Amino acid sequence: MTATKGLEGIVAAASSISSIIDGVLTYRGINIDELAQQASFEEVAYLLWHGSLPTEKQLDELLKQLGDHAAVPAEVIATLRLYPHDSNSMAALRSAVSTLGIFDQDANEMNREANILKAIKLQAQLPTIVAAYARIREGKEPIAPKHGVSIAHNFLYMLTGEEPDQIAVEAMNKALVLHADHELNASTFAARVTVATLSDIYSGVTSAIGALKGPLHGGANEAVMVMLDDIGTLDNVEPYIQNKLNNKEKVMGFGHRVYKNGDPRAKHLMQMSLQLGELNGDTRLYEMSVQIESLVTGQKGLKPNVDFYSASCYTMLGIPRDLFTPIFAISRVSGWTAHILEQFEDNRLIRPRAEYVGPVGVHYVPIAQRG
Ligand code: ACO
Repeated sequence: MTATKGLEGIVAAASSISSIIDGVLTYRGINIDELAQQASFEEVAYLLWHGSLPTEKQLDELLKQLGDHAAVPAEVIATLRLYPHDSNSMAALRSAVSTLGIFDQDANEMNREANILKAIKLQAQLPTIVAAYARIREGKEPIAPKHGVSIAHNFLYMLTGEEPDQIAVEAMNKALVLHADHELNASTFAARVTVATLSDIYSGVTSAIGALKGPLHGGANEAVMVMLDDIGTLDNVEPYIQNKLNNKEKVMGFGHRVYKNGDPRAKHLMQMSLQLGELNGDTRLYEMSVQIESLVTGQKGLKPNVDFYSASCYTMLGIPRDLFTPIFAISRVSGWTAHILEQFEDNRLIRPRAEYVGPVGVHYVPIAQRG
């Protein structure tokens, strides 16, 4: 038995949700480029859960359900108030989603209909939790979700208490569409491993949030913004990045396990970063990002991934940088729950083997005789 480090190249599940073939990403067979240009995030969530785009009636029904379930139990809001105000926002989200499971009487109801309803609830409630925690830690009261608006609109509204402008809603919608699913990425795999034991959907999503938090996965978007803030000015890009490359340090937002010729989502976010910069009358972050890309791609051949340009986009939407990864979770919960439903449809425990590389033939030594 020989281990494959990082499971690179291992095909660990059959799935009909999203595919990456020859560098092209599809959700249920539809190219991500078409969805990014035309779809609402709610349509995409329906597509991921059910396998086809909703009719008008089906979409109306989903929007109603998302609205009905967007409020979170008062007990969960009460626990958010107990977290230290400087907690990591992904740790707060992870804990809150686990708590949601405790307050859902149907958490352990395992039929498909019950699990789809829980997927809808999780999708509706994650934005409410993220916005509520962001306000509570600033000493403000959470804002109740609205009925009859999109998830992108509702999230921005609950965060600021103001009606967001249409361009901000469209940008947020597109970012949510682009992050919704991505084959067997680390957090989705974590979700599938957890529920393959026949544990519940809340446990699966809690595991996934824990995996997404890390800087090699979803946490990279926040790390990119830390880097942009550190660099500060266009003039400082070259010395800063050159120093990182000389020291063989990783530049966050670059590289990908699967895409070697570029992440198909990055171009949409790059375009959005320019548009938002022009709208704000300040393209500094966009220009810095383009210069970083030129240096890293030029010298290392590494292309930006989904996290690179999303950092400048979210900042230009006025979002604090430690909410970037929670926003990723708000989107990806659609994909996680679709994969959980798929796992339950044809389940088998996921239990690989390890290549043992430790000592052999060792004997127990009584404590008094240990040196
Ligand atoms: N900056 C500099 N060098 C890099 C980078 C980077 N961002 N990414 C990879 N490399 C180098 C590695 O140092 C390694 O070089 P070596 O062969 O000389 O040792 C080589 O490229 C291969 O890299 P690995 O880390 O082995 O590639 P792996 O497939 O294991 O990792 C990963 C992929 C984690 C995405 C990696 O590229 C990385 O750490 N990127 C930065 C973090 C990041 O942006 N993560 C978000 C990914 S997208 C997502 O999850 C949403």
